[in-house]
Amino acid sequence: MHITITGGAGFLGVALARSLLASRSELSGLRLVDHVEPSEAAADVVGDERVDVLVGDLVDPDVVDEAIGPATDVVYHLASVVSAGAEADFDLGYRVNLLGTIGVLERARELGAGRDRPVRVVFASSLATHGSAAGGRTVDASAAQRPETSYGVQKACGELLVNDYHRRGFVEGWTLRLPTVVVRPGAPNRAASGFASGIIREPLTGVDTVCPVDPATVMAVISPRRVIDAFDRLLDLPGDALGADRTIPLPGLGMRVADAIAAVRAEGGDRPLGTVRFDPDPEIQRIVDSWPARIESAPAEALGMGGDESVAAIVRQHIDDELDR
Ligand SMILES: NC(=O)c1ccc[n+]([C@@H]2O[C@H](COP(=O)([O-])OP(=O)(O)OC[C@H]3O[C@@H](n4cnc5c(N)ncnc54)[C@H](O)[C@@H]3O)[C@@H](O)[C@H]2O)c1
Repeated sequence: MHITITGGAGFLGVALARSLLASRSELSGLRLVDHVEPSEAAADVVGDERVDVLVGDLVDPDVVDEAIGPATDVVYHLASVVSAGAEADFDLGYRVNLLGTIGVLERARELGAGRDRPVRVVFASSLATHGSAAGGRTVDASAAQRPETSYGVQKACGELLVNDYHRRGFVEGWTLRLPTVVVRPGAPNRAASGFASGIIREPLTGVDTVCPVDPATVMAVISPRRVIDAFDRLLDLPGDALGADRTIPLPGLGMRVADAIAAVRAEGGDRPLGTVRFDPDPEIQRIVDSWPARIESAPAEALGMGGDESVAAIVRQHIDDELDR
């Protein structure tokens, strides 16, 4: 099996690559494409003989052709300009998140023509596809998609494109719609939700941090292990395990900011803990308030893609996987 991961130097791209390399004996080639090099922390992944790394801009058709080579069976399309980045730079967001996604789908379509099973394309969408009508609420798979950020619009377009390319038989399309993934290790990216990891990650290593939203804010979150497990599970599913709507919203646990800070204190053990200072940022608060607070997903549960038990369990997972590793 040959797999390409776009955004392969990013947080989820590296974590997914590491997991596939460990669990998939049928994997013979794994190509990571990104416009930046993977960091030192990904040395174990990059060093695996099945892995090759391609550095380039996915919006360039030549890069896409090379990234998704003729032997490709599966593409995990994770490359993206994330939320605050796409809000700050309208043109860049549309170029990468919309045109880049079309380019990936077109390349997969081209390769799949005439094959028994089309190329499988797995797209990473976001809870940002909901708009403020869902803000602060519990939503399920039937909730309307009325995004109010450029990133959310771009991701919603991606979901619809995956549905249509699948319906036409051009690709075998799958979308996982992700809640905010917590805890993100390493340096923060430009996601508006970045603080949700920061208020756990930084204090646990003795670093003080700033939270831009109110302590009562509730966000729908999921742990990295749950997300990677869901991405991995798709490889074993037949294409018809899902109907015409190819989006599986992953369950999102409602994490109250104040509870996350308390969970760090409770789970931190003997570590000297950093502090969290509140410094409100109305723009970040607006974006986060337009996202659901909890996500329930019957389609995910039916496919064995469960959510997390508690905020404390997510904090412990981070300690086990990143700090005590
Ligand atoms: N992490 C989350 O909380 C979360 C939540 C919802 C959705 N998602 C989605 O999941 C996917 C992965 O997220 P992540 O947290 O790993 O993000 P990330 O920022 O760590 O990784 C995205 C990668 O895409 C790369 N990239 C951006 N533009 C590119 C281009 N033009 N060409 C090639 N590569 C490019 C970046 O360099 C980066 O390494 C993204 O599509 C994101 O929108 C993530």
